[in-house]
Amino acid sequence: MYGLVNRAVEDLVKQMKGEDGWRRVCAHAQVGADGFVAVRSYPDDVTNRLVGSVSREMDLPAEKVLEAFGEYWILYTAEQGYGEMLRSAGAGVREVLGNLNDMHGRIETAFPEMTLPYFFVEDIGDGEFELIYESSRDGLAPMVIGLVRGLAGRFGQRVVIDHVEGRAPGSPRDRFRVRVLAEAPFAV
Ligand code: HEM
Repeated sequence: MYGLVNRAVEDLVKQMKGEDGWRRVCAHAQVGADGFVAVRSYPDDVTNRLVGSVSREMDLPAEKVLEAFGEYWILYTAEQGYGEMLRSAGAGVREVLGNLNDMHGRIETAFPEMTLPYFFVEDIGDGEFELIYESSRDGLAPMVIGLVRGLAGRFGQRVVIDHVEGRAPGSPRDRFRVRVLAEAPFAV
């Protein structure tokens, strides 16, 4: 994954556990603590080791770390100058998710070695929809849950999200059912 992702992990850990916590996480993950270059692509194994090590440091299952990371990613990318891109992708969680493949496509110009995930939305009605997440990477479904929650939060919305179907051999897709509880009072 690109260094931007690892830097967001670093930022989150430092906020919660300080510089010493980050040093412990790096030591256990056998990753140098001197930082990542945002626009350089690192092996996925680095990110996976970091997540495992954060899980140990925080005494949380890795799935919960990924969920928290997903929520944080929305705040972090906005802070890193991608807020306008998110804003122009829509005025609520449903709309942004529908435009996410295009948005990631634009982001790809800055991160050309990105391995793109694909998202598809199927409306059910009454504020409910299904979200299909297709990825060449395994194990990131909990991150998608956090991302959707964080995205909704950004628009003053709350969602209930259930992981209703996981990946299977030959079918690299996860399926989520999302219910939007409160409509956006304003767009940010
Ligand atoms: C403006 C905000 C965003 C930026 C700048 C951004 C950028 C990126 C980047 C750089 C990666 C790493 C890809 C790689 O190294 O191969 C990534 C991965 C990913 N992004 Fe985004 N993204 C944004 C918003 C979102 C949102 C809102 C969602 C979902 C709700 C999302 C879902 C994902 C997922 C699931 C991955 C993991 C890739 C995989 O499955 O292989 N992203 N994104």
